[in-house]
Parts: sequence; C-alpha cells; structure tokens
Amino acid sequence: MTVTVAPVAPDDDDTIAIVATGMRATLVEVLGAERGAAMYDMDWLRDRVRAHLDPARLDGRVFVARDPSGEVVGHAMVRVDHDDRDEVGLFSTTWVVPAWRRRGVADLLVDHGEAWMRDRGRDVAVTFTHPDNDALVTLFGRRGYVLTPVDDDFVRLRRRLAEPGEADH
Ligand SMILES: CC(C)(COP(=O)(O)OP(=O)(O)OC[C@H]1O[C@@H](n2cnc3c(N)ncnc32)[C@H](O)[C@@H]1OP(=O)(O)O)[C@@H](O)C(=O)NCCC(=O)NCCS
Repeated sequence: MTVTVAPVAPDDDDTIAIVATGMRATLVEVLGAERGAAMYDMDWLRDRVRAHLDPARLDGRVFVARDPSGEVVGHAMVRVDHDDRDEVGLFSTTWVVPAWRRRGVADLLVDHGEAWMRDRGRDVAVTFTHPDNDALVTLFGRRGYVLTPVDDDFVRLRRRLAEPGEADH
C-alpha cells in the first residue's frame, strides 16, 4: 500500500475543497446524477467539511488518503453523534476516487476513523448508506458492522468498537 492517511488541518482550504468535491461525487454516484448534484451546492459542502474541523460546531475529524505524489485519492469524515441508543462515532462520508478502488484505501481510512472514535471514548461506530450500495455495505459488513434497514433510502451499519471483531446485535 503506497497510500498514506492524515487528518486535514482546519486552515487547509485546498484540501477542504477537494473533500467537498468528493462528497458531491459520492452523492452523484449513490443517488444518481440528477438527485445527487441537486442536493447541496459546493458552498454548503465546503462548509460541512469545515464544520467537522471546528470544535465549536462539531466534534469531528476529516481524514484524507494521498498517493505517493501527494494527490488526494480518498477521504473519510467522522464525528461524534447520537443514534437512537448511544452517543456513537459516525462515518458521515467515505469516498475513494475510482482509479484507486479495490486497493484497500477505504479500509485504511476506516481504520483511522475507528481509531479516532476509540480515542474519543466511543464504543460504537455507525454509518448510513443507500440499500443498493453493495461496495460500502460489503466494506463495513466485512469489518463486523451489522446492517439494519432504516427506510427506502437508508440502511444503518453499526458495530461495537470496544471489543474489535465482535459484532453488535
Ligand atoms: C465504498 C468505497 C469507499 C470503497 O472504497 P475502496 O477503497 O475501493 O475499498 P477497499 O479497497 O478498501 O475495499 C475493502 C473491501 O470492501 C469490499 N468492497 C469494496 N468495494 C467493493 C465493491 N465494489 N463490491 C463489493 N465489495 C467491495 C471488499 O470486501 C473489499 O475487499 P477486497 O477488495 O479484498 O474484496 C468506494 O467504492 C467509493 O468511494 N464508492 C462511492 C462512494 C460511496 O458509496 N461512499 C459511501 C456513501 S455513504
């Protein structure tokens, strides 16, 4: 693996813009061009990234993966959030550029996100996606996340972090 992962600094506007573009690409890929592109404008997406880097707004972090030349090839945004049961660590978005897929980049980003959640004292990690998103469902499912349908547009994937490998039922 020639990719490295590091957190984004709050004043790194260039990387913040790249992550926002990745968020938009995620929406287009998961929801389709019309619905995904119309959902949020770029200003809103950049502000959403910044919110994850501003402790006054959210307890969060943004990790980017870079190739050996320093190009961003993926990101994971995480924050402390609530679900119906607990205060949890939430993966709010996970994205890898198509040219770098199936090379373990997302797995590496999720490793960093889960480590941050553990450092923040969270026992449970959660993410949400569209029910048809086989890539994400398989990625998290293989790591022990348990899938629960939420509605027509979302499934929840949830895992207890306190005991790695143990699925939370
Ligand atoms: C989901 C996504 C982040 C996976 O990134 P990736 O770097 O290719 O994933 P990895 O290489 O780390 O894959 C790890 C494991 O996840 C599973 N997986 C990943 N992509 C998969 C796919 N397309 N189909 C089935 N399983 C897949 C596999 O088990 C894989 O291990 P393997 O390659 O040894 O079989 C990437 O496909 C992506 O960015 N998709 C579009 C954005 C998106 O859907 N984000 C989530 C929105 S909520």
